[in-house]
Amino acid sequence: MQKLRLGVNIDHVATVRQARGGSHPSPLRAAMMAAAAGADGITAHLREDRRHISDHDIESLRLELRIPLNLEMAATEEMKTIALKHLPHACCIVPENREERTTEGGIDAAGQFDRLKPIVAELVDAGIRVSMFIEPDKRQLDASRALGAPVVELHTGAYSNAKGVEQKALLNKVDVAAKYGTSIGLEIHAGHGLTFENVQAIAAIREIRELNIGHYLIGEAIFIGLEASIRRMRQLMDEART
Ligand code: PXP
Repeated sequence: MQKLRLGVNIDHVATVRQARGGSHPSPLRAAMMAAAAGADGITAHLREDRRHISDHDIESLRLELRIPLNLEMAATEEMKTIALKHLPHACCIVPENREERTTEGGIDAAGQFDRLKPIVAELVDAGIRVSMFIEPDKRQLDASRALGAPVVELHTGAYSNAKGVEQKALLNKVDVAAKYGTSIGLEIHAGHGLTFENVQAIAAIREIRELNIGHYLIGEAIFIGLEASIRRMRQLMDEART
């Protein structure tokens, strides 16, 4: 079975820094530590309101990081220009509502097809690996493929928030979507809301190639340290895979 990559999202290191407006703690330092602890990539979401990650963070990550950077971004002209300037390894296209606390749902790749098409095309043409952050839904998978994105990231937020029978049904939706997406030639990633407790069922879906995990890892770092938090997640993912 192919190795499951771990992308560590460092947004919430920046959230803590922004609480005081200074330069500590540094997302770049966290990214370097994550790489040393076994992260295969770093994810950072440059939001339109710059509430956590800043333009300078993206610049310094791009300069210093030796593992792939995945820039999460809304599909806007401003973000496209920034992506084309920095040329990260990957861009994950997410919906963005100003009032939301976090990315609340997947992007409507089908409903916003005409708006998204030229943006995805420009990023792909620039050699950036584009992924669409979508709900685990056949219509969204078909639309992502038709948009020309080589990758989709399946939103695991609903699965993560559910319990019991409902969670099982939502896990099945992710599984079915991962299999269908692979069958139409998409590379499958997943993420949102994953924890030590709920990661293994998702990691066991062998079509999934990468998980992007942030909030829980940074939260857990308060108790056990960032390195231990990432190593534990890595271990749980590897165990689920064998
Ligand atoms: N993937 C995407 C596209 C996201 O927007 C987020 C949240 O920023 C994550 C993964 C990580 O989610 P969490 O912080 O809940 O682990």
